[in-house]
Amino acid sequence: MTIIASKCPDYKVTVVDISEERINAWNSDKLPIFEPGLLERVLKARGKNLFFSTEIDRCIDEADIIFVSVNTPTKMFGEGAGKAVDLQFIEQTARRIKENAKSNKIVVEKSTIPVRAAETLAKILHSGNNSVQFEILSNPEFMAEGTGVRDMEAPDRILIGSMDTPSGLAARNILMDVYLHWVPKERLITTNLWSSELSKLVSNAFLAQRISSINTIASICEVTGADVTEVSRAVGMDSRIGSKFLNAGPGFGGSCFRKDILNLVYLCEYYQLNEIAAFWEQVVSLNDYQMERFVKRILQAMFNTLVGKKLAIFGFAFKPDTGDTRDAPAIYICKRLLEEKAFLNITDPHALNNARKDLQDIEEGVDFIEDPYQAVEGAHGIALITEWASYKKLDYQKIFDKMEKPAFIFDGRNHLDHKALYEIGFNVYPIGKPALKHL
Ligand code: UGA
Repeated sequence: MTIIASKCPDYKVTVVDISEERINAWNSDKLPIFEPGLLERVLKARGKNLFFSTEIDRCIDEADIIFVSVNTPTKMFGEGAGKAVDLQFIEQTARRIKENAKSNKIVVEKSTIPVRAAETLAKILHSGNNSVQFEILSNPEFMAEGTGVRDMEAPDRILIGSMDTPSGLAARNILMDVYLHWVPKERLITTNLWSSELSKLVSNAFLAQRISSINTIASICEVTGADVTEVSRAVGMDSRIGSKFLNAGPGFGGSCFRKDILNLVYLCEYYQLNEIAAFWEQVVSLNDYQMERFVKRILQAMFNTLVGKKLAIFGFAFKPDTGDTRDAPAIYICKRLLEEKAFLNITDPHALNNARKDLQDIEEGVDFIEDPYQAVEGAHGIALITEWASYKKLDYQKIFDKMEKPAFIFDGRNHLDHKALYEIGFNVYPIGKPALKHL
């Protein structure tokens, strides 16, 4: 919404939320999320045509277009638990819109939701004796965290799904006009509602599937002496395959991939497409396997026991340039290492507050330390889980000198200079490459 406001000075954009605390943060200089480039843009537009408010009912009535961007987590209870989407926030929002709208509205699904959710929205909005007309559009978001500003300012594509009726197409054109302020026309794609809803799930499923695929190859590389970086480069140069999203790692994280694939799996199961459900579910199972494999590699390398050993964890966010730790591989990996009775010093430039919350049930064995040099003091090993650029610039000789010997480094992202580390004296365990060891 900040980008829309900054690109469309002729529109007034108001972001509303039930959380007063969150809205206050959006109205301050300390935004509730860390996203490079966002604060500058908020500061430029805020108070001019960008507003943050808790006056939800008034803002519903004033708006012509309402973007529904509430969270749609995986349902953790009852029917479909663990796979289906919990739609309670979508439904509550639809009811609130219905109660407060006194003029016709375009309601845009921005949240990622199951296919045919627009139908549910329409049923709720048009229930009872309501003379207000609602037109539902699907406009899924493809931006990624950490690069959100860039992705919004120069998107690969903007997708708008609508009903194929005169009022549906008219609503679609109104939303297209917003994006045409800065997005070239050929990057705007229009489809029917269900294709648009499904495309969002499929995009994330395909991206995650590439990561699981390359992670399976990493396992083969480790035992055969091949190098996963070389393999992914050779494979990715085939223009039919492409080079992006072929970086092996400790597993994908974030609030979307797992949730959206499980949503797709649930959809397949609902329509009794069981083989197809099993295919996509395997992408998630392999991701779980990859996280566990990372832990096992640490355990095996460190003589099959971590009891009483100190490990420095470099990075807790699910990816760099964000403080977000939702579904981060670090959560699983750290819990497993703690089960093995290791002591953990966790460091991360932006995610330590979230890391503390994620591990709040753990009573002992874990410390959160801002300074990586302090985190490695007396450590037996380092596990790099998030590829923050700053980790490349550290003085690894200084780090080595502070550590217990033999010193181990497990580079879960193939982010560091392995040869240089080996020459310093580290035993280096990359992902998808043979280890470089002195032992
Ligand atoms: C993802 C999609 O990339 C966005 O297009 C989508 O809009 C978004 O979900 C969403 O549905 O909201 P995001 O989760 O922010 O974006 O981050 P990604 O860059 O996709 O990374 C996800 C995870 O995959 C991270 O843990 C990352 O480290 C991992 N990853 C990514 C790899 O392990 N290897 C790769 O080659 C790429």
